[in-house]
Amino acid sequence: MELDSLISQHQSDWTDTKNRQPNDIKLTTEVAAAAIVYKMQEGPMVKRRLLIARKLRDAVEARAAHDYDVILNPHDRLMSTEALIAACQGVDAVLPCHSEQFSAEVIAALGPRLKIIANHSVGTDHVDLAAAEAAGIVVTNTPDVLSDATAEIAILCMLGAARRGAEGHEMIRAGKWDFWSPAFMVGKQVTGKRFGVLGMGRVGQVTADRARGFGMQIHYHNRTRLPAQLEKGAVFHTDVDSLLAVSDVLSLHCPTTPATVGIINARTLALLPAGAVLVNTARGALVDEPALIAALQSGRIFAAGLDVFQTEPGGNPTLSALPNVFLLPHIGSATEQTRDAMGFRALDNLDAFFAGKPPGDRVA
Ligand code: DGY
Repeated sequence: MELDSLISQHQSDWTDTKNRQPNDIKLTTEVAAAAIVYKMQEGPMVKRRLLIARKLRDAVEARAAHDYDVILNPHDRLMSTEALIAACQGVDAVLPCHSEQFSAEVIAALGPRLKIIANHSVGTDHVDLAAAEAAGIVVTNTPDVLSDATAEIAILCMLGAARRGAEGHEMIRAGKWDFWSPAFMVGKQVTGKRFGVLGMGRVGQVTADRARGFGMQIHYHNRTRLPAQLEKGAVFHTDVDSLLAVSDVLSLHCPTTPATVGIINARTLALLPAGAVLVNTARGALVDEPALIAALQSGRIFAAGLDVFQTEPGGNPTLSALPNVFLLPHIGSATEQTRDAMGFRALDNLDAFFAGKPPGDRVA
């Protein structure tokens, strides 16, 4: 499909900050197309052209607009694959979130101008890194700055699942709390229990620190063992199965790779101690959801606290219908300070790249 027709099909709601009208931020298709074609012809433009794929925090967008010739998405609409490809044709850089998929096919269609994908996420499973590298496109992410926020959500998921937070919350909201007794809504106490961390990277380490605050004993599996000062007495397991066997609470913090997709499945769920709690704040693809549903229904797993799902947005309706799940809509890093920090970190990576320096968080 021609660029012009893609633009007219998909980009009528986009706003070019240079052409924004005071009372009408929606450009006509014609103006948007003309603006992009003009930019592609490289007139007297000095600033690099940057596409910011989703609505970011005001301070982040303001800095971006100061330093770059930005295309924003003020209505925060998720772009179709075709719109993403079309929008990337006329830019030097794109700043996407995990919601924008850069498969090998998409990367092959991006055109020669795009030089860098500066992600607003620590996870990069939405980008085919090998394809980007082969195409000469640099890819960066935003590690570290979201570890505290994500660890908070992991602990919330653990407590919400173990202490039946969702059930209690929904009961009161529905006006159905009409009973109390010592036998009512008894859950699992986490104090002093074994906290298993699968993937002891930055988020895993901070989450383990928070779990230590509950007197939990930390066990972990990681590709490489941590040095003693980072391990802080945690028990290292050379294999996943051995970790699972001792995890009263298992918290997932590993990246999604071909080796980890579906790592929590019927076989591995059966290795957990009876009545264990599963926490996932990493990626939905790590868990075989039908297997988890079966384990939750049978009571083999006491409860699950989940911030991520195989299908997002939306989640899994069968899973959501179970009483013993505590569910959040992928908000691990969703705090004001962390979203600011993620945006600034992505811009730092762009600034370094366009200054001819190696971006600090290059992953491809
Ligand atoms: C991340 O940074 O990977 C979070 O999941 C938000 O995208």
